[in-house]
Amino acid sequence: MILPLVQTDHPVLRRTADTITRFDDPTLQKLIDDMIPTMYERDGIGLAAPQINYSLRLAVIVPDPDKYEEYKKESREGIVLINPKIIRKSFRKETHEEGCLSVPSIFGPVHRYRSVTCEYQDRHGAKHTMKGTGLLARVLQHETDHLNGTLFIDKAKRLYNVAAL
Ligand code: NI
Repeated sequence: MILPLVQTDHPVLRRTADTITRFDDPTLQKLIDDMIPTMYERDGIGLAAPQINYSLRLAVIVPDPDKYEEYKKESREGIVLINPKIIRKSFRKETHEEGCLSVPSIFGPVHRYRSVTCEYQDRHGAKHTMKGTGLLARVLQHETDHLNGTLFIDKAKRLYNVAAL
């Protein structure tokens, strides 16, 4: 099922999302199953639970954002990040354009760590560690921010509206 997204001024996007402690919950599992196709349907490379109005520390991301079209067309897989936490950050930062499915038509350059290491649990509660560089690092930071009530528009150096161009 493709889920409806909430947008910019919805209060759920500003809340600190709740930690997930129960993994054998069918509602949680169904939500994850729906979030992955919802992300691809909207051409997103990541989707956090608050964006679909669930204040939970859960996000799905494309396994390799540099091969987005392949994943979108063929596999529809996603990496499920539950209770993700960034535990290491590179010294270097870099600036790239960013957008968000919850903030339609708005883009802007955001300065972020070039590499991060993220600790998270999968949909069954098993613990994993993942290191991302470049676009993957950016997605990990953007999605973790969503779970803390932060949007990219808070961090962008400037914003522009492509609908107005
Ligand atoms: Ni977003």
